[in-house]
Amino acid sequence: MATSIFRSLLLLFFLSCVTSSDQGNTYLISSRIVSRATAEKQSHFRFYFHDIVSGPNPTSITLAEAPGTNTSATLFGLVVMIDDLLTTGPENNSRSVGRAQGFYASAEIEKMGLLMAMNFVFTDGKYNGSTIAILGHNEFLSPVREMPIVRGSGLFRFARGYVQARTHWMDQNTHDAIVGIMFL
Ligand SMILES: *[C@@H]1O[C@H](CO)[C@@H](O)[C@H](O)[C@H]1NC(C)=O
Ligand SMILES: *[C@@H]1O[C@H](CO)[C@@H](O)[C@H](O)[C@H]1NC(C)=O
Ligand SMILES: *[C@@H]1O[C@H](CO)[C@@H](O)[C@H](O)[C@H]1NC(C)=O
Repeated sequence: MATSIFRSLLLLFFLSCVTSSDQGNTYLISSRIVSRATAEKQSHFRFYFHDIVSGPNPTSITLAEAPGTNTSATLFGLVVMIDDLLTTGPENNSRSVGRAQGFYASAEIEKMGLLMAMNFVFTDGKYNGSTIAILGHNEFLSPVREMPIVRGSGLFRFARGYVQARTHWMDQNTHDAIVGIMFL
């Protein structure tokens, strides 16, 4: 009796180790070969980028603004340049796998809406040096935003599909944010 409880506890411990290390380190959600002839694969990934506006080392800086940007409710005309840390998990000390670089601009007068132009530049394992570009419309106050994948380079040379972005955390005062992004 005691032994079997011990065994199940051990199994539970083992399973939770497996689960937590998966959550900590795995960004590949799934992968399958679509065509052997063209060596085409379909893979889904999940990452988090850390958009840090505040503090001594911001990774998100204002590039330009129009004379009316400050008085616009939607900060219309603001252009921000980013070089954000890209990690496997939402914690800022989770494994770094690259950078999310590019810019976003407030492109809507009536509501909060951004034009996003971003390169995901990977540095991890076999993806080191490969990139994926996205370009799209981001209503960042909505829970889920969809944006198109333009193309990629390296292992992602013919990449296509879309991403779903979800704000994981945002500081209302500094506007520092951690955003989850799934490549689908
Ligand atoms: C907008 O406001 C910020 C912060 O108050 C200030 O630093 C910036 O100079 C202002 N920009 C313009 C174009 O008025
Ligand atoms: C990481 O997050 C913790 C908790 O939110 C914070 O105290 C710390 O300053 C952050 N570190 C960096 C390098 O941003
Ligand atoms: C990625 O590739 C660069 C250039 O080849 C190399 O210097 C770097 O060490 C690699 N990084 C990792 C994490 O493998």
